Amino acid sequence: MNSGLRKFIFRDLPTIEGYIDPPDALVFLSLLQVQKNNGLDGGIAEIGVFYGRSYFLLKKVGNGEDKILAIDLFDIGQASDGAPTQYGQFLANGRRLGLDVDEELIIRGDSTLMQADEITSKVGRTRFFSIDGGHTLQHIAADSRLATDTLADHGIIAFDDTFNPAWPEVTVGVADFLRERKDMFSTFCMTKYKTYVCRNEFHEFYLKAITEAPDLLAFDHVETEFLGSKVARLHNPMSRRMVYELMVRSGMRAFSERVYR
Ligand SMILES: C[S@@+](CC[C@H](N)C(=O)[O-])C[C@H]1O[C@@H](n2cnc3c(N)ncnc32)[C@H](O)[C@@H]1O
Repeated sequence: MNSGLRKFIFRDLPTIEGYIDPPDALVFLSLLQVQKNNGLDGGIAEIGVFYGRSYFLLKKVGNGEDKILAIDLFDIGQASDGAPTQYGQFLANGRRLGLDVDEELIIRGDSTLMQADEITSKVGRTRFFSIDGGHTLQHIAADSRLATDTLADHGIIAFDDTFNPAWPEVTVGVADFLRERKDMFSTFCMTKYKTYVCRNEFHEFYLKAITEAPDLLAFDHVETEFLGSKVARLHNPMSRRMVYELMVRSGMRAFSERVYR
């Protein structure tokens, strides 16, 4: 297990307002490391930064070696009252964590209007692409097309909020993506919040990587079928989630990592 990176995931990441939770952070970590260990290089991209929770995870795991391009509208909290804007808060979070933002690789704009070469010209073809921007069908269709057009052969797309009843069009968009490209892409892992897909040629490789990842042994690995692919569904029992929440709320965040061993 990666004790330093796990400490970061459980102690530092929750201090940033945002959404990626420890189970998915451990999946990101495991996948990025298996790629590194097997010489599967490429850039990293994310749509949907918010205040940087997932961005700083990517940055920390990359240890200064990866190019990470991130796209967001950055239009939350216009600063009429002097409060930091979304972008200002994002930069401040980086300074606080000692992980400075590479501003040349941050795109402030609408991801649905972007072309693949705006990404590949900066970071090369992508090995990991996280989609967590706009949550309508139109966003998922455009963002998944953009991700596909940048992806290396061994690249992974992580879709957020799949099967979340609050965002039903994400579910439809991901299903459309997979059904329209079933000769190319398949799902290999699902968590409570995210769905991870890759090209069919790498499906066995990534499924095995998830099954064997030391940082994911705490989860129940439930074999599931999704649109014709074998998927490792990582189940995180309610009892563990409750213990974790209790520890965090009672100020024992530093020890909460033990719950996920
Ligand atoms: C759920 S948040 C991202 C959470 C983040 N990944 C985390 O781990 O905390 C969604 C973000 O997507 C951005 N967004 C929404 N629509 C977008 C669009 N069309 N293009 C770029 N960013 C967009 C929003 O500004 C918001 O910051």
